[in-house]
Amino acid sequence: MFTGGMCIEGLESSCVDPLRLREDDLAEGWKNRVLAHRFELLITSCIIVVLTLALSIGLGVGLSCVGKFRCGSSSQCISTFAQCDGVVHCENEEDELGCVRLSGRSSVLQIQRKGEWKTVCSEDWNNWLGISACKQLGYSRYVESFFISLTSIEQDLQTSLVSINLSQSQIIKLQNAAAFSKTQCSSGLVTTLKCLECGSRPQYSTRIVGGNISKPGQFPWQVSLHYKSEHLCGGSIITSRWILTAAHCVYGFEDSSLWAVHVGLTEQLIHGAQSLTVESIVYHSRYRHRGLDYDIALMKLARPLVFNGLVEPICLPNYGEEFTEGTMCWISGWGATEEDGETSVVLRSAMVPLISTKTCNQPEIYKGLISSLMICAGYLEGGIDSCQGDSGGPLACEDSSVWKLVGATSWGSGCALRNKPGVYTRITKSLSWIHKHMEKEEAHDTPELSTDN
Ligand code: ARG
Repeated sequence: MFTGGMCIEGLESSCVDPLRLREDDLAEGWKNRVLAHRFELLITSCIIVVLTLALSIGLGVGLSCVGKFRCGSSSQCISTFAQCDGVVHCENEEDELGCVRLSGRSSVLQIQRKGEWKTVCSEDWNNWLGISACKQLGYSRYVESFFISLTSIEQDLQTSLVSINLSQSQIIKLQNAAAFSKTQCSSGLVTTLKCLECGSRPQYSTRIVGGNISKPGQFPWQVSLHYKSEHLCGGSIITSRWILTAAHCVYGFEDSSLWAVHVGLTEQLIHGAQSLTVESIVYHSRYRHRGLDYDIALMKLARPLVFNGLVEPICLPNYGEEFTEGTMCWISGWGATEEDGETSVVLRSAMVPLISTKTCNQPEIYKGLISSLMICAGYLEGGIDSCQGDSGGPLACEDSSVWKLVGATSWGSGCALRNKPGVYTRITKSLSWIHKHMEKEEAHDTPELSTDN
């Protein structure tokens, strides 16, 4: 260690006295140590950042199951080829759910095998397979199968074909039957399926011309959802056991014992209206509080409804069905008749045109807020719209005299304002969620199905 004093000639400031030197030395030492410490800190934080990044990317990839099938909301991932292969791989059996769908305008039956959707040819088709397919869609019944020409269906449904062969008379899961991939249906025909008589209005006479107060039987699928004995939202009957509504209607109010479903009524507070209890409520797992996407929920009734003309189910649309801009559809409900107004005692309805998402996302309208999971309907000039209390209720469109549920009332900015049309949950985008949920419950209700597979 240097202890002597010395000066560089002519440079006063360079004179160093031993005491100063020791202080300087000490200070320098400290500085070095602090610097070294900072450096260590920098390195450590870099390592931490890199590790966290790696971990989260790894976890993200794991959770999102890139290139694989994810078992519902669990973190389990399986190969896409294991999906709908007749063998259960996921703990929650999710991989064997949603393996059947009805597509296009004509309800063409498609099955998913190993991650690919195939249209079912008419060869070897029978009613047992029809019953099985309906069960897999979550219906407890089956009406009929009929065959139509392959060339008459939408192009994209014609490319991948399959025929299914079942030798015994039994109810199975379609993916468990022998299936043969085809490039052509030898019959030239494909299978279409009907599981439920729906979308008709047997008690409604079109000769009655009414303003916007609905007539009995005009919207027989419309229900009023009461929470603690008060009308809170609308809903639609989709089967004898299921009501479709909006997730924001039930979010935070999931205690099914506090709800009642009023059916077959046009006027609230009328005694004798059929009121049913709710067994369970589920909203879309991807719905987020105050979010606008996935605004859809299902209520399971404790007992099945009896359809009588005043109470009827509406048809769900099919996968891939598109409803064009300008199509006139109907909205209905007991919601407010003016912004911030009271709910209505009588069921009101209005005819509204569908608006394309492109138009609805214009800067002067909803500025990009409309996602592919929503559909707009109404008048840009304002004046006619759904409003508070109508939520969950139907946006129904008639298609060759069959009524289909195209939307569920979800949101809007104010009510009936200029450039602020109503926004509805687009049902075609949630079909697999709806059917999977009904299928799970259907398997529950008919245990022989769940034990076979
Ligand atoms: N969110 C409302 C409800 O809970 C429905 C709003 C519909 N608004 C509209 N402008 N169409 O009842």
